[in-house]
Amino acid sequence: MCTQPLQAAERMSAPFLTANTGNPGLCPGTVRLEEEVVGWLRELYHAPLHGAGGMVVSGGTEANITALWLARNISGQKEVVVPRSAHFSVAKALDLLSLKPRWVETGPDGRVNVEGVRKAVTSRTALIVAVGGSTELGVVDPIDEISEIALHRGTRLHVDAAFGGFVLPFMEVAKGRTYPFDFAAPGVTSLSVDPHKMGGAPIPAGALLLRNWEEIRAISVESPYLSAPTLSSLYGTRPSRNVAAIFSAMSLQGRRGYQRTVQRVLELTRTIAESGREMGLEPVIEPVLNIVALRHRDPVAIQNQMLRRGWDVSAIREPRAIRFVVMPHASAPMVRKMLKDLAWVVREIPN
Ligand SMILES: Cc1ncc(COP(=O)(O)O)c(C=O)c1O
Repeated sequence: MCTQPLQAAERMSAPFLTANTGNPGLCPGTVRLEEEVVGWLRELYHAPLHGAGGMVVSGGTEANITALWLARNISGQKEVVVPRSAHFSVAKALDLLSLKPRWVETGPDGRVNVEGVRKAVTSRTALIVAVGGSTELGVVDPIDEISEIALHRGTRLHVDAAFGGFVLPFMEVAKGRTYPFDFAAPGVTSLSVDPHKMGGAPIPAGALLLRNWEEIRAISVESPYLSAPTLSSLYGTRPSRNVAAIFSAMSLQGRRGYQRTVQRVLELTRTIAESGREMGLEPVIEPVLNIVALRHRDPVAIQNQMLRRGWDVSAIREPRAIRFVVMPHASAPMVRKMLKDLAWVVREIPN
């Protein structure tokens, strides 16, 4: 899910190699840049102008851990309602924070079962997690419906849009097909997004946004020897280079640039889905984002053979399928060449 970052963003971030966003009094410039980045993301994800805020983190894992940490401290509860499709970083966070999962199954379309979520929420719930672009299939949970449950039950709702966050806002969707996933749904209390995935920023670059930034106090600790009285992040020393890189990547591409990239990768994704069908490999779901999974009885064998030809595709076990993530470095000629090799491999290992 990572790609060639924008070279200009890499270059522009180089002077920040020694700056530490975790010591804001010493590095006021990077603090300003972080505010700019958060402002841009706040607008993109329809977070309220007053009250919402966020911070740059190392990636989706740190953002998810922080969201669960906050939810536990604010609610004092121990249960988290989690879709089966959630990224494994949520399992890590549950373990680290001694929280208990209430797993909810997904339906045939890969989205979490809303009735399952409704039933799993209890008075012990600290948080509901929903996925804004799942890692395996790229599907978006029905976040507007889950938001209603969260509001009705007075529960927090965290959206993991680590992958989808730089795709969904830039997609041209057919009439009547929208994918609400952000703070426009009033029950959403926090959101993760990874500029190092589809945002064009170099690794490590993630962000966590909160509808009510004041809540960050729930994880604040005193930081006596630093230039700020308290620190409210998992990392202590925080690289400023990624703040500058995200700022550069977003300023250089702008909404138009992201729209162009997203349109291009989605077209390539559709090409792979159609060609797969012609080879007798049915897509597990009609692709929503730039991820497509094609059913095959032995995806690992296909994966190994493709790797020998230089193509890094992945295998999923349930259902058995070969998974392609079409990142911005992919071009039409590259995809044509890959499909030619895939057709050859599928002839050797028939479905
Ligand atoms: C939906 C989702 N959340 C979280 C993560 C974890 O992100 P990272 O590896 O940047 O920590 C990923 C990574 O693929 C992801 O797809």
